Amino acid sequence: MNLKKLGRTNLKVSEIGLGTEFLFRQPREVAKSVISKAIEHGINYFDVLFSVKQYLEKLAPVLKEHRENIIITGHIGTVENTEGRPKKTRNLKECSEEFLKILKILNIDYIDVINIQFVRENEFDKIMQKEGLYDLATSFMDQGKARFIGLSTHETQVIEKAANNKKFDTIMFPLNFINHNLEGRTEALALIKKNNIGLVAIKPFAAGNLLQYNRTVSFAKYQTGGISLKKKNPRDISPSKCLNYVTSIPEVSTVLMGVKNEEELSQNLGYSLSKENEKDFTKYIKLYQL
Ligand SMILES: NC(=O)c1ccc[n+]([C@@H]2O[C@H](COP(=O)([O-])OP(=O)(O)OC[C@H]3O[C@@H](n4cnc5c(N)ncnc54)[C@H](OP(=O)(O)O)[C@@H]3O)[C@@H](O)[C@H]2O)c1
Repeated sequence: MNLKKLGRTNLKVSEIGLGTEFLFRQPREVAKSVISKAIEHGINYFDVLFSVKQYLEKLAPVLKEHRENIIITGHIGTVENTEGRPKKTRNLKECSEEFLKILKILNIDYIDVINIQFVRENEFDKIMQKEGLYDLATSFMDQGKARFIGLSTHETQVIEKAANNKKFDTIMFPLNFINHNLEGRTEALALIKKNNIGLVAIKPFAAGNLLQYNRTVSFAKYQTGGISLKKKNPRDISPSKCLNYVTSIPEVSTVLMGVKNEEELSQNLGYSLSKENEKDFTKYIKLYQL
């Protein structure tokens, strides 16, 4: 697995990382086997998206076992609701408690990247104001509970604000064939590069929609960074082609793929062994443009 620099942090991250959102509803054994196998194959970057207790408890033993050799992103910006589901919040007390809960249940001392999640353009200034969420993230850094600060968003306008503001070490954004020509994407990536920010790509398979072979699917805005599209997928699209597209974007440090079991992970890890013609994505870029 190739390693890349994560922007201005001193971290070297595997070019493919693992998102754990789709392990949320899976049994504990599946979460353990998927994460163990990912580590065996050189993946060192893991994204822990929510603070929901039963989800964290599934991830905890295996992440703890490998803690010294992996990089973990933990998020602030959602709280567990009474049904055990994540709910967006900007309440400082809730965000603080939920972050401490993540550390406690995972039984670890620190998170590598504390990430302010789901940031919309109209809330950016509030997040950055005195005693806002950014200050909360900084206070966790001061206490040694986090090493770097990131932000995730589905809006290129937020990337522009965050990059110009120069206070973020990483930015998470959906990247896949569909948003190749998204308005503002090229400029946003250029700003990320100029400011040496680590770009963590998400949704390489558009949340799985791109891998619905030979079927017509509706791509939602949250899967594409702002584009709605109904399209028939070709028969021969594959995980390797989707991953190769994203890892080929020079600004990307790592791409977080989601899987729901070991079988999907194995198929996707095939990317590292694929021949150039097997992962050639050039014809798909055009296919998915509006
Ligand atoms: N901070 C944020 O705002 C934020 C937001 C979103 C995501 N993320 C992170 O980014 C990660 C990646 O995004 P994502 O998981 O939503 O999207 P993704 O990687 O584009 O898609 C993941 C889904 O694709 C399908 N898939 C994967 N491999 C497959 C295979 N070999 N064959 C068939 N289907 C396959 C699976 O769903 P099915 O099998 O069910 O189709 C899987 O759950 C998340 O897990 C999360 O950690 C962060």
